[in-house]
Amino acid sequence: MSVAPSRRPGDLDQAETIERFIRVDHAGEFGATRIYAGQLAVLGRGRHGDTLRHMLEQEQVHRKTFEDLIRKRRARPTALLPVWNVAGFALGVATALLGERAAMACTVAVEEAIDEHYSAQAAALGETEPELKDTIEKFRAEELEHRDIGLANEAELTPGYRVLYGAIKQGCKAAIWASERV
Ligand SMILES: [Fe+2]
Ligand SMILES: [Fe+2]
Repeated sequence: MSVAPSRRPGDLDQAETIERFIRVDHAGEFGATRIYAGQLAVLGRGRHGDTLRHMLEQEQVHRKTFEDLIRKRRARPTALLPVWNVAGFALGVATALLGERAAMACTVAVEEAIDEHYSAQAAALGETEPELKDTIEKFRAEELEHRDIGLANEAELTPGYRVLYGAIKQGCKAAIWASERV
């Protein structure tokens, strides 16, 4: 998706592109808060409780920032929020029930998908929208921190790690695809 000035018929115009970016980013951050909330419901009193709360707090800031941008830019939020509300929480609970390592494997997969997504957005923005780009880059750095927390807490030692990681990452990419459009 390019926001370069030369456009072909059928390309989204700049305003539509930015609205799409904000819609999908809001959806992703909303989903992230629900995933960590689900994990905390299971593991909140365990040894990773504080780590999970730390990540949830950062996701809440990300989510609030995009909520504010949706209002400011009069963008339409995705119609799929009720789905991500339930699916995010369920993913968090399910991975936490599989164990602490599986919860961390979920974090690695989700945060990597978001990292790639934010990288692509930042590249597409180029020099347009410097403020939005700064926000995206700042959040991306924190998502990478979350991924590193997952790796440091033995995500990769989860039984069936590659399968779990692959499934969750693909699920995130599908959610991103849908949230850009619906
Ligand atoms: Fe986030
Ligand atoms: Fe994150």
